[in-house]
Amino acid sequence: MKNVVVVGSQWGDEGKGKIVDWLSEQADVIIRFQGGHNAGHTLVINGETYKLRLLPSGIVRKEKVSIIGNGVVIDPWALLDEIKEIESKNISVGVDNLIISESANLILPFHKEMDEIREDTAGKSKIGTTRRGIGPAYEDKVGRRSIRVMDLRSEKNLDQRLDSVLIHHNSIRKGLGKKIFEKEKLKKDLLKIAPEILKFSQPVWLKIDQFKRQKKKILFEGAQGILLDVDHGTYPYVTSSNTVASSAATGTGCGVDSIQYVLGITKAYTTRVGEGPFPTELKNNIGELLGMKGKEFGTVTSRKRRCGWFDGVLVRQTIKISGINGIALTKLDVLDDLDEINMCVEYRLDGKKIDYLPASVEDQLKIEPVYKSFPGWKKNTSGIKNIKELPDEAKNYIYAIEDFIGAKIASISTSPEREDTILIENPFKT
Ligand code: GDP
Ligand code: IMO
Ligand code: MG
Repeated sequence: MKNVVVVGSQWGDEGKGKIVDWLSEQADVIIRFQGGHNAGHTLVINGETYKLRLLPSGIVRKEKVSIIGNGVVIDPWALLDEIKEIESKNISVGVDNLIISESANLILPFHKEMDEIREDTAGKSKIGTTRRGIGPAYEDKVGRRSIRVMDLRSEKNLDQRLDSVLIHHNSIRKGLGKKIFEKEKLKKDLLKIAPEILKFSQPVWLKIDQFKRQKKKILFEGAQGILLDVDHGTYPYVTSSNTVASSAATGTGCGVDSIQYVLGITKAYTTRVGEGPFPTELKNNIGELLGMKGKEFGTVTSRKRRCGWFDGVLVRQTIKISGINGIALTKLDVLDDLDEINMCVEYRLDGKKIDYLPASVEDQLKIEPVYKSFPGWKKNTSGIKNIKELPDEAKNYIYAIEDFIGAKIASISTSPEREDTILIENPFKT
């Protein structure tokens, strides 16, 4: 049996939540390792929809342990709200099924304000962030002035830590003509909720080591997608964490040898939310149709997602960068009504052929996609659970993707529902 990491192979929202929930039946422990409540993972189980932001998607199965690793940035109020929200759907969350790393860094209100100030003053160069404070919180972590979960244990310590982070934030705020952020109220508010957060906190690396010795199966749940990775994505139009699979090791404190299979969740077309290059974007009625049929509206911000054709060049690249062993192809059913389906197989840059995404945004905005065309199947695939039942044209498209990207298609998803999934290769058993 293997431990599996799930990552998004495009710009996020590939359907990670659905696949993690489906796979978690076979796992004992489900762990988030990066990102924060910028993530929005949707699960549909017997018609009931669950939207998870910080909680791992394993939380809905009561016998599983869910962990938020040290690599995640946690807005403590957002976490408590999410726990309340999920409890209102009869899912219990307690110290038996939720563990939070004591070393995870907190997102505080001044991070959210800084995110908003920057986006509002950036004009044309705004990133289109989720405005949740993700970037500023990760900056403070790397700047060694962040407040961590464990800092909530002592008032004296918290007071000192707040002084050092607020000197930094208040100098920037003063420079931008913004109001100074007051320490005392924030300290009081944090101390009020501290027991509710601290009760879940533990050294996660130690728990994972115990689970490994007990031969428990671990499923690591990535957020965002490889093209939003701060090193490997379409920088600067990225998030502020490493979204690649190797982050599962740093973001939890287990060795890289704890990971045996990387599953890349891959939409059968492409979407992106926020600003930045998107070579196969369709600003036409086909893009609109994909958006409507695929219900492509952000889970976190309700923004309309930009839609386009499947970009084989990009997915082939993220498979290499993240070391993806197999992909879970999602949302095949969204293509059901199309007469013709295109897949990008190379780009043209200044008239020359190029078979990868160039690193500079300038070039990324200039490249033109070259497409291979496939006939549509014009039949309903929604809810199909057996590959034999898929129309020949759909199989043709799927196998062409597999061939082009150079990774096995491990599963195919045909609706938002947990069980509407075709299993081809079980990531835990290969
Ligand atoms: P995540 O961020 O990667 O977990 O993805 P989101 O939950 O943000 O967005 C994926 C959306 O597609 C959600 O609304 C899912 O319910 C939905 N979804 C997932 N798989 C399928 C599928 O195979 N078909 C259809 N039609 N919808 C799907
Ligand atoms: P899941 O896990 C899609 C995008 C934002 C923005 C950029 C930076 O649901 O796939 P941030 O708030 O992180 O500083 O925003 O990243 N973004 C996502 N896009 N899915 C996500 O998460 C995303 N999380 C962040 O739209 O372009
Ligand atoms: Mg999402």
